[in-house]
Amino acid sequence: MTDTKFTKKIACIGAGYVGGPTMAIIANKCPDYKVSVLDINKKRIDAWNSDKLPIFELGLKERVMKSRGKNLFYSTDLDKEIDAADIIFVAVNTPTKTFGEGAGRAADLQFIEKTARQIREVARSHKIVVEKSTIPVRAAETLETILHSGSNSVHFDVLSNPEFLAEGTAVRDMEDPDRVLIGSRNTPGGLAAREELVRIYRHWVPPERILTANLWSSELSKLVSNAFLAQRVSSINSIAALCESTEAEVSEVAHAVGMDSRIGAKFLNAGVGFGGSCFRKDILNLVYLCEHYKLDPVARYWEQVVAINDYQMERFVKRVLRSMFDTLVDKKIAVFGFAFKPDTSDTRDAPAIYICRRLLEERAKLAITDPHAIENARKDLEGIEGNFHFEEDPYRAVQGAHAVALLTEWERFAQLDYQKIYDSMEKPAFIFDGRNLLNHQKLHEMGFNVYPLGKPALHHF
Ligand SMILES: NC(=O)c1ccc[n+]([C@@H]2O[C@H](COP(=O)([O-])OP(=O)(O)OC[C@H]3O[C@@H](n4cnc5c(N)ncnc54)[C@H](O)[C@@H]3O)[C@@H](O)[C@H]2O)c1
Repeated sequence: MTDTKFTKKIACIGAGYVGGPTMAIIANKCPDYKVSVLDINKKRIDAWNSDKLPIFELGLKERVMKSRGKNLFYSTDLDKEIDAADIIFVAVNTPTKTFGEGAGRAADLQFIEKTARQIREVARSHKIVVEKSTIPVRAAETLETILHSGSNSVHFDVLSNPEFLAEGTAVRDMEDPDRVLIGSRNTPGGLAAREELVRIYRHWVPPERILTANLWSSELSKLVSNAFLAQRVSSINSIAALCESTEAEVSEVAHAVGMDSRIGAKFLNAGVGFGGSCFRKDILNLVYLCEHYKLDPVARYWEQVVAINDYQMERFVKRVLRSMFDTLVDKKIAVFGFAFKPDTSDTRDAPAIYICRRLLEERAKLAITDPHAIENARKDLEGIEGNFHFEEDPYRAVQGAHAVALLTEWERFAQLDYQKIYDSMEKPAFIFDGRNLLNHQKLHEMGFNVYPLGKPALHHF
């Protein structure tokens, strides 16, 4: 198809964990739309155009291959593709600010602002600009102001369309979403723009799952969704601490509590803490917003979700230390899993980063293994002092180890031969199952000293 044959042209600025998968699915489902995914990072764009995609996500490669070169394109030529597009998704990163006012809490909006300025500079016709990135409530107002300032007389309609996909299940979440949320201004232009976006999703999403809202509700709903999810994790993790002190079992408590249909069973697995690029940053963003609006008790309430997460990671380290006779000096620990969750190579804000650093501070020697995240883990630990190395093969990682610390619940770790592992380890051999993935009773019978999370330890002394 030549460009003129396409019904509409879409550009997406930001070819990351969100821009990549979302645009692949839109291209698959809307063959009559041209989709151009853009990034300033040439290496990333080259990878999207190669056989080794820059991110690992189940089923993604097939989806990309289906449309790439037909109606799905990856490019660094932002100016050209922005000007050609009718609809521009903005999916750039919005990390936590690390400097100045709001450092450590507020969202750093510099990439959003740069993108808005670039759109304004090069657009010569009306554009619909869609916020896909997660941003503070009322950010659309800033976008509108930037887009409509200066000498460019082009009109822009800004929509909010937050992304709810979860890494590891991004393809499934996009193809079969619980809901799609579109926020717009209640003006003729805003409503028409909203209809354009609804039309794209209608290609595959049932109408009752496409929600429309005002811009601010839409922006805020994304922060609140992540805050509620993280809150459930911190809630059950706080109870895990109590279980370890009382010999209650957190999985039994979670099961009993989760069967209440008003509560539900999801996101009630105790673990070493949540990670990923979003939860911490989005809650801190919410906290900062509450402080901005002088709602201090609300800010303190949400801040506690992050505080419990920090406490949980530190508690895990302390449990390793205490159980191994209060010293880890020169003890080898095999770290099973570095990604913040299974089925992704993403290690951003993974609990493993904190836990490994702390174990190294205690002078343990680490052999780190992960099915897909070793490359990222290497970067995360770059420059950190201490004795650590990476092993593709978990059986090599455990050779002569005093302990295994399981930090990511990759199914592959459940399938390993633990008798073989036990035989190759130093004795007494310890397992700290930070995700309650393994069969603890069986491990104990093999001879391991087993420390599940939120449950009594099973040891031999
Ligand atoms: N990762 C997730 O699971 C997830 C889920 C929902 C929402 N979000 C939100 O989506 C947004 C993007 O997240 P991500 O995980 O895809 O981030 P990412 O870091 O993987 O990707 C962002 C991309 O934007 C590019 N970029 C930055 N400035 C640019 C510019 N001026 N022009 C062109 N490209 C530019 C970067 O080079 C990078 O490749 C964030 O706001 C995040 O909070 C993320």
